[in-house]
Amino acid sequence: MVAAKPRFSDFIAVTDHLSFRLDQSSAASALQRHAAAIGTRTLREAFEHDEDRFARFSCASDGLLLDYSKQQINAAIMLELLALADEASLQTGIDSMLSGELINFTERRAVLHCAARLFERTPVAARDEISATHKRLKEFVTRIHQGDAVSATGRRIRHVVHIGIGGSDLGPRLLAEAFAPSIPQRLELSFAANIDPTEIEAILQRANPEETLFIVASKSFSTAETLFNARTALAWLTSALGKDADISRHFVAISNNVAAARDFGIMADVIFPMPEWVGGRFSVWSAIGLPLMLAFGTDAFDEFLAGGRSMDAHFASAPFATNLPVLAALLGIWNATFLGIDSHAMLPYSHRLRSLPSYLQQLEMESNGKSVDRSGKQVRWQTAPIIFGGPGTVGQHAYHQLFYQGTRKVAFDFVVPVCAAPSPATLSLIDNALAQSAALMLGRTLGEARDELRARGVDENEIERLAPHLVCPGDQPSTTLLMPAITPFSVGQLLALYEHKVFVQGWIWGINSFDQYGVELGKNMARSIENGANAKRDGSTLGLLAAIKGMSGT
Ligand code: F6P
Repeated sequence: MVAAKPRFSDFIAVTDHLSFRLDQSSAASALQRHAAAIGTRTLREAFEHDEDRFARFSCASDGLLLDYSKQQINAAIMLELLALADEASLQTGIDSMLSGELINFTERRAVLHCAARLFERTPVAARDEISATHKRLKEFVTRIHQGDAVSATGRRIRHVVHIGIGGSDLGPRLLAEAFAPSIPQRLELSFAANIDPTEIEAILQRANPEETLFIVASKSFSTAETLFNARTALAWLTSALGKDADISRHFVAISNNVAAARDFGIMADVIFPMPEWVGGRFSVWSAIGLPLMLAFGTDAFDEFLAGGRSMDAHFASAPFATNLPVLAALLGIWNATFLGIDSHAMLPYSHRLRSLPSYLQQLEMESNGKSVDRSGKQVRWQTAPIIFGGPGTVGQHAYHQLFYQGTRKVAFDFVVPVCAAPSPATLSLIDNALAQSAALMLGRTLGEARDELRARGVDENEIERLAPHLVCPGDQPSTTLLMPAITPFSVGQLLALYEHKVFVQGWIWGINSFDQYGVELGKNMARSIENGANAKRDGSTLGLLAAIKGMSGT
């Protein structure tokens, strides 16, 4: 019997009753005036005039430290940003989300990824549903680890291939990279996301069909890339084990669409549900975490959930002025909406967090890459910036030059894990993060450029010729987040922090952070082109199709 869908709140979401629009906010008007005055004093001068700036503009919680003193802010601006949060009834929003109100107001859904990690302030019905799934997941993981669940030929499973894309891939992939160096791996773990067969074929070439389990992770169970890779895996197994083999022993599914997973041939007892109230890009806490439980054990995954809950508790209770996700959100709004900074670099100074920028690209850009507000009107302010980035120090030797001497303002998050007794190399990593943040803020004046060249013994004529090319304007705003050593708990804190940041920004911008109607346009266009539909096409597409036909002979 399918459990009745818990109705956390039958009344229409609180968002229907909110009249706040950012362009009608008095705090926003004040912030616009402050933005117009930016530049009259450099950050270098701000630090020179205020030796307490770091103490004033940094905040710590549960082992994390957020230093936002290199942002283009002052006490008055922070007060107005906090006033903006109050004008937007942010606390109402937080309470509404946690209580399961339908704040995903276009799809009329609750938003309860906090329940997926069993945060106590979420509806018990949601947590009960999650706990029931967790019980099934743990039983399955134990059967695999103990060799009670075996392959079609009776062999133990030793290799798990996770097939998924977007939110059904990026979270598990990030966590696997973060956990691997410090947690013994019980099983080999591979990820296949791209429809380009090169990716899954490279995995299958090194996999043993008698010992390989495929996880088909798809909330909709209709994503073309995932179904293509699942069918590729099915054909590979059938070819290797024979059409009479019990191939179903090699597949499990994680989905909100149980019927479609059954139709694919996956047994009901190994279909693990994803509730509709957990968005794809917020789903790493849900059954989507199965590959991590299989590879690293359920204790590690429980620790990850605990880290997320710790951040939930902080977010739900800390005053906004010392609330890390709220501060990160307000600073992001200040940069993107009021200072017009269109790009935001996420720079984790850790190889283990190298996929964090990709994860945050989806979390931030798919959530807040929107421009229509609760009332269905076009917003008249900038919303989410372009998120990009990569691991330090690698990026310093690739694209940091533009940050120093390009024509554009860029905002930065430096994410810096700090372990006990770091090795000299790890210390160098940390020192580089601090150096980049400081150098981008301070810049290099013409006088300093001349002094540097003179110190190198360059003659005066050459100094005058070269010095202008060494000038760095500085004043690039950054936040540095110091986090404890990478553990499942600290990674849970980190991801939950950014989830709440995204929620706060969407709430204040007045947009829906939890749907993604835009990407469907591209999907529909791809289906139309693939099917060769006789649709009216633009001249570029027609020209390209003709050229491809010539090049490929298709
Ligand atoms: O196309 C965007 C998207 O729907 C994301 O929101 C989602 O995380 C991804 O595709 C995968 O979707 P599914 O889990 O349904 O396969």
